[in-house]
Amino acid sequence: MEIVQNPADMYAWSKNQARAGKTVGLVPTMGFFHEGHLSLMRKAAELCDLVVVSLFVNPTQFGPNEDLEKYPRDFERDLALVRQEKVAAVFAPRPDTMYLPGYQTEVSVKELATHLCGKSRPVHFAGVATVVTKLFNVVQPDVAVFGEKDFQQLAVIRRMVKDLNIPVRIIGHPIVREADGLAMSSRNAYLDPANRRAALSLSTGLAKVRELAAEGERSVAALAKMLEKYIHSFQGTAIDYASFVHADTLELMDIVDEKTVLALAVHIDGKVRLIDNGYVLP
Ligand code: PAJ
Repeated sequence: MEIVQNPADMYAWSKNQARAGKTVGLVPTMGFFHEGHLSLMRKAAELCDLVVVSLFVNPTQFGPNEDLEKYPRDFERDLALVRQEKVAAVFAPRPDTMYLPGYQTEVSVKELATHLCGKSRPVHFAGVATVVTKLFNVVQPDVAVFGEKDFQQLAVIRRMVKDLNIPVRIIGHPIVREADGLAMSSRNAYLDPANRRAALSLSTGLAKVRELAAEGERSVAALAKMLEKYIHSFQGTAIDYASFVHADTLELMDIVDEKTVLALAVHIDGKVRLIDNGYVLP
């Protein structure tokens, strides 16, 4: 497995592979791997000859008061995990090689980035769209795999690729969960045992909404009222949003139908912000 730091070397590697007729699948990540990340790598390996994993904690997608500095990092552990997968190269650039002095261009997906996480994280999706564009230009993948865990991110990237004629096939992959239902996340490393219990309110809240919907409740107002009460019954939880949105447009819905996704962002103990989502109806 190759470890590549320099963007120019990465580009040259990919060009060589393309010349040799190999297809490349990219899995963009910020590291601190868990089974969710590894499942994306396995999916990419199914679809392409060679898998490239990018590992870059992208500074431009963090707001000024967010967790860029304390975001969990363990490069050696990540490399050990990735070596057990069918990964041909890890692209781990240094921030100063990705954002050169004088850097001033960004990609922003206007409408989709204003909903959900865009409200409390106004710079986030421009940072994501920009770095993903840069990663696509450097790695030149045929396919890129993203998790449905970051539902809005996936919607933003699909839109961007369509809008800018970017020749990369975007594949979404289902959320990988812990045995008790908690969506895996690098940020789960921040949770102490009490907060870990409170964190379960996202997935169990989603399950409760699905139960009520299966019994026939279609009113978003009624479902949202129950859900908010339920989540806030866990100590230390504060809802950022609990929104019933259309899967494609992310616009709010009043009545649940097959396209309705419940998207959740909850602060735990004022320290950790977790997200989860899922279709309300089967
Ligand atoms: P990161 O949070 O490291 O996530 C990398 C990829 O793993 C994303 O596509 C994310 O949706 C996916 N992922 C995370 N948890 C998952 C889970 N439990 N199940 C399935 N997939 C999961 O998302 C980012 O990094 C960054 O924004 C990035 C796209 C790399 C741009 O910097």
